[in-house]
Amino acid sequence: MKIFQREVQLLEFFLKFIESYSEPLVFFDPERIEIVYMNQAARSFLGEQSELSGFFEEQEYQNFIKLIHECHDIEKRRVMSYKKPDGSKGVLLFNLYPIACEDQRVVCFNFNDITEKIKKKEENRRREAQLILQDKLKSVDLVTSSISHEINNICNFMVNNLRITLQAWQDVFNLIKEYENDNGEFLLGGISSSEIDKIIPRLVLSIIEGINRISDTIDDFRKYIKEGLKSEFTIIDINEIIKRVITILNHHIFIHTENFNLALAERLPKIKGNAQKLEQVIINLLMNALQSLPDRKKGVFLSTGLAYGRIYIEIKDEGIGISKDIMPYIFEPFFSTKYSAGGSGLGLYLSKSIIEELGGEIVINSEENRGTQILIYIPYHDKNG
Ligand SMILES: Nc1ncnc2c1ncn2[C@@H]1O[C@H](COP(=O)(O)OP(=O)(O)OP(=O)(O)O)[C@@H](O)[C@H]1O
Ligand SMILES: [Mg+2]
Repeated sequence: MKIFQREVQLLEFFLKFIESYSEPLVFFDPERIEIVYMNQAARSFLGEQSELSGFFEEQEYQNFIKLIHECHDIEKRRVMSYKKPDGSKGVLLFNLYPIACEDQRVVCFNFNDITEKIKKKEENRRREAQLILQDKLKSVDLVTSSISHEINNICNFMVNNLRITLQAWQDVFNLIKEYENDNGEFLLGGISSSEIDKIIPRLVLSIIEGINRISDTIDDFRKYIKEGLKSEFTIIDINEIIKRVITILNHHIFIHTENFNLALAERLPKIKGNAQKLEQVIINLLMNALQSLPDRKKGVFLSTGLAYGRIYIEIKDEGIGISKDIMPYIFEPFFSTKYSAGGSGLGLYLSKSIIEELGGEIVINSEENRGTQILIYIPYHDKNG
């Protein structure tokens, strides 16, 4: 009698525990495909119902029933979509536990709604992609401004040449012919007067050559942008990347300093990585260094080398430096002291994540009003990266 009472007490205790358990628990009869019991948390999620056919989409419901049938001896963990009361799709993470009670088989299923969690994760992923795209667009913008600067210079030079040449040519040619008729053949800048009408077209040809050079330059930049759209890992030569960045930023370097120094170590081992992303890092850090300079006399020093089995890239500037107060925040996304000048505060944040992706690190030393030294360390594995 006593034993029986204890069993009843125990049963009551378990029922109370299950009923007040914070996560939804549903006990399912796999033979009759119906719910035999739900606790409070499950009832408030599912409402009062004895089966789950309306809870899932048709196909998911079939998958669910199949799982219940197969759930004999081991626990199963699955993610499934379900129909929310407003018709939208939700996502459940659930565990199925088989329970055998004498001759009756029951499957307990406990679940969590992870719709919001997944949404947040997806949002973060999209935001990250957006940040990278934004940063890429910025470098495209830099490239474009460099290109247009180059193009304008060369075009102005060519247009001026053409204008002067054309204005003068007709008059000069008539005069030459007149003078030649009276005095015979003569020399003009070492060229015979009878040849001059062939030389002028050659001048025009040389201008065309100049135009071709421009279009080659544009092609090079276009290639750079196209490569940027790929995101492959290749064997890369860090020195080559730096040289390319310097070509791209040539105009910006010129604007900010007359003291730019480059010292690239010879025979640097190659590494495996995404060339475009590494270019991005050098662009970001070099632009920061240039933007920190108070005048053109101050310098920027870029060098590469090997240190303790890693490749290093050092970007040192004689700029305004970084104050101790802001040092802890500079790698945070959207932290910038240059908003008014168009800074977005993403350069260092993205650079750090790109370098960490390569298994490397970025170290910063800075002194206010003296300058900043940035060291990037990247591991390499063997001769071929
Ligand atoms: N070489 C440097 N000298 C002085 N301050 C620097 C230097 N590099 C970074 N900083 C400081 O760190 C902040 C964050 O740099 P970060 O490159 O992330 O953003 P930003 O340059 O402001 O904007 P963005 O690079 O997105 O255009 C800068 O606003 C600046 O205050
Ligand atoms: Mg920056």
